[in-house]
Amino acid sequence: ELGGYAHFMEKEIFEQPTALENTMRGRFSEDGSTAQFGGLNISAVDLRQVDRVHLLACGSAWHACLVTEHLIERFARLPVEVDYASEFRYRNMPLGSNTLFFTISQSGETIDTLAGMREAKRKGYKVLAVSNVVGSTIAREADGGVYQHVGPEIGVASTKAFTSQILIGAMLSLYLGRMRDMSFSEGVEVVNALKGTPDLVRKVLEQAPRIREIAKRFAHYHDFLFLGRLSLFPVALEGALKLKEISYIHAEGYPAAEMKHGPIALISENCPSVFFVPSGEMFNKVVSSMQEIKARKGKIIAIATANCDLPAGLADEVITIPECHESVLPVVATVPVQLLSYYIAVELNRDVDKPRNLAKSVTVE
Ligand code: F6R
Repeated sequence: ELGGYAHFMEKEIFEQPTALENTMRGRFSEDGSTAQFGGLNISAVDLRQVDRVHLLACGSAWHACLVTEHLIERFARLPVEVDYASEFRYRNMPLGSNTLFFTISQSGETIDTLAGMREAKRKGYKVLAVSNVVGSTIAREADGGVYQHVGPEIGVASTKAFTSQILIGAMLSLYLGRMRDMSFSEGVEVVNALKGTPDLVRKVLEQAPRIREIAKRFAHYHDFLFLGRLSLFPVALEGALKLKEISYIHAEGYPAAEMKHGPIALISENCPSVFFVPSGEMFNKVVSSMQEIKARKGKIIAIATANCDLPAGLADEVITIPECHESVLPVVATVPVQLLSYYIAVELNRDVDKPRNLAKSVTVE
């Protein structure tokens, strides 16, 4: 069953190129300028009326919602609200009339997400679902949705399901964007970028042996920070969650610029930081955040795109990821932190597929 891998988590990390191909199969328009979905059960006319999107989920799926928020805002210019499903249920917030709800749930059985979805339906809203399990409760109760098609995820820590969720988030953002201001040629550019994701992920996976070496050197720290900005902030949260779940090492994710507002007090030679460093508008800002950490003797692992010109000696370790379009960057940047957490947990002899205190699907409130 493991097909030569040591754990399901490892297998599922390495399955991602194929999993992502399966998520995309048949889901681009013939003219190659937008995404298409068979099961949304909502007409283009109705979707065009939507003026706000509300996303509900828990855990990693909530991180996927945060990435999706960023992409919907970028591509469709629609306001987006992201809630922990467990909080939405009790918040009783004022809602608009043309809001579309989306839940994201790998298992389709998470009770908090289900309860949040039922609350939105009770208030008279359409709720669509992204799920990996065909016929799951959430998929059945939703008004429509998108299946992930990544095959069963057995490792408790979500990996291929998470990257597939953010890929679907990007495809939905493209679809909503093309109904609004996004031009044909920009749509073609995004479609081509999305189609290239599996190969980019393959390139990152080739670096597994090096990431394993880095993991060995960093496995004995007790605290980590994961720092990223914009769409990579949720990826930082995801990296911290992966490390916590399977290695039991304390880790926190922050937008890099928030460090100076408090968390930088944690930095010493005993608390390393994992920085996401994309080229482009945020590059200089992220570099100055790295310098602040370095000045306090914090060790740095940088996950940087290939075209970044990082000042020599700033990072203790650099993991290079391919240059890529903003729509696929969060997927590509996730893979190194999955591998890093996985190899750290292996180094510490943790029960990677069945970490203590956790279950694959959380069916109690
Ligand atoms: C983390 C993880 C959990 C789930 C969360 C929601 O690795 O797997 O945080 O993401 O429990 O689960 P689903 O997506 O099944 O609703």
